[in-house]
Amino acid sequence: MCGIVAYIGHRQAKPILIKGLQRLEYRGYDSAGIALISEETAALNVYKIAGKVNDLNDFCEGKDVTGHVGMGHTRWATHGEPSDVNAHPHTSADGTLSVIHNGIIENHEVLKKELINRGYEFVSQTDTEVLVHLIHDIQKKENVNLEEAVRLALCEVIGAYAIVVMSSKEPNVLIGARKSSPMVIGVGEGEHFIASDATPIVEYTRNVIYLEDNEVATIRDGELTIKTIDNEVANHYIQELEINLETLEKGGFEHFMLKEIYSQPESITDCLRGRIRVKDGIVQLGGLSRFENSFENIKRIIIVACGTSWHAGLVGEYLIEELARIPVEVEYASEFRYRNPIILDGDLVIAISQSGETADTLAALQMAKEKGAIIWGVCNVVGSSIPRITDAGVYTHAGPEIGVASTKAFTAQVTVLTMIALRIAFKRGKISQERLNEVLVELENIPDKIRELLKSDGLIKEIAEIYKDAPNCLYLGRGYQFPVALEGALKLKEISYIHAEGYPAAEMKHGPIALIDESMPVVVIASNKLHYEKVVSNVQEVKARKGKIIAVVTKGDTSISALADHLIEIPETDEVLTPLLSVVPLQLLAYHIAVMRGCNVDQPRNLAKSVTVE
Ligand code: G6P
Repeated sequence: MCGIVAYIGHRQAKPILIKGLQRLEYRGYDSAGIALISEETAALNVYKIAGKVNDLNDFCEGKDVTGHVGMGHTRWATHGEPSDVNAHPHTSADGTLSVIHNGIIENHEVLKKELINRGYEFVSQTDTEVLVHLIHDIQKKENVNLEEAVRLALCEVIGAYAIVVMSSKEPNVLIGARKSSPMVIGVGEGEHFIASDATPIVEYTRNVIYLEDNEVATIRDGELTIKTIDNEVANHYIQELEINLETLEKGGFEHFMLKEIYSQPESITDCLRGRIRVKDGIVQLGGLSRFENSFENIKRIIIVACGTSWHAGLVGEYLIEELARIPVEVEYASEFRYRNPIILDGDLVIAISQSGETADTLAALQMAKEKGAIIWGVCNVVGSSIPRITDAGVYTHAGPEIGVASTKAFTAQVTVLTMIALRIAFKRGKISQERLNEVLVELENIPDKIRELLKSDGLIKEIAEIYKDAPNCLYLGRGYQFPVALEGALKLKEISYIHAEGYPAAEMKHGPIALIDESMPVVVIASNKLHYEKVVSNVQEVKARKGKIIAVVTKGDTSISALADHLIEIPETDEVLTPLLSVVPLQLLAYHIAVMRGCNVDQPRNLAKSVTVE
């Protein structure tokens, strides 16, 4: 993970770096650092500290932070604990050369041994430090400039990286390179930016270039050149960013997560825009149009994803199997990629990823492609790595999601999967025009129904107050509500650190029922008409063991309402769309409990939003 940002141009670099790092903090936040080439002394000044970007900013107070060239890093520890010394940038012993890195150098042990034999001393426990000494060593041995030394060093490196390198010996040069970790270059008027994503860049320029794997970008005296690590010139065209700056601010909400929960009516509207025409009964997805004629040939769909996106994938399985009647398997990307899976003719692999950068998902997709599958992507971040390698795909258009716990990205993913299921189903003749119309009418109404649902926030906060100190929590659901139960439990565990489990309601009696006593809150999601009576029985089983029941039910429900200790009502909708509503109260419940427990909601401990390491 880790976030990187760098600047070279006519402005003072430090404010750009600090602001950029704050935007990138979702990628990691256990330590942070910056390096600048001082205007006053021409020396390379490095300031780094364990803690957040704000701590770094305080730490820089009163120090020489001048400079038009600089880079910054916010870390999510992989090798070496979070500490001042392990924070990036890492610097050569003579203090002239500095590197920041996102990724993992897999052969760092071998390289380190060689460098130690050549007299280099290591001060940190990181894999990154190897890069600094390696580049320094090559420069010394080969007598080459920084660009060439970086290129030659990268030829020796195995692993994943996005790095930025600067040196006080070549103060007008900034170098960036990537392999399997993201990197965007912002091209302004006489200035350039490098970052892990476009958020630190967007307020200065909308012109960006997405660096490809194995490419090295050098900005020298205001000129950008991009070459492959084999030293061939790479041609790139500039793309225009579409991010809206306002979406990067909290806009009056206490946390990004709360803002993002509340923005779901708008994010779903954005996701649906131009894709459904209710009065004509049409759902169309431009990103898939090229493949429409081969929908008939799809024999099996394999969905690969991680975390919340994997839960969206499970909803997708229910949707696609029910509507389009194609068998679906949902795989954890990390398992799929390492178990030599069977890919057959007619297999379609769909990757779901908010960031479009998750290392395991990307690798699983690449493997599926090599084995001959058609690959599609359902991603949120435009221009990220997954959409760039897929054959086709659909963007979720949920806008930037900053809170580490995913909320609006999940509902947008489910919305896209619903549209994919409907489109394929209709084209394959598995649903009638009438059924399509029915679902589309309801789909269009979902944003308003979420608005209505958000009015229960006060009630949910009261429930949160009662259960904020619970050590455990169980989430139960059947059918479409089972993935929602998993997602609700994940939200609670991620941000409040309460242990929570999601379970298919009927499976409860094969294990979790043993945990139920009067101190165990059980969240039952029972908005579905299907299996309703069976869920009522499950609720009774919990009740008989004195568990406390928080029920999420459809308005007008009577049976479960009579048994529940607390009731959260959601508006009625088509069965297939219920996850889009029932997940919202669970997001709010987790949010309020976490706030009441004093947790850092937007940056929960040990987590990162974009997991670009395996
Ligand atoms: C991390 C994030 C989760 C996210 C998962 C997959 O664990 O904290 O919120 O669901 O990665 O990320 P992706 O970007 O692929 O959806």
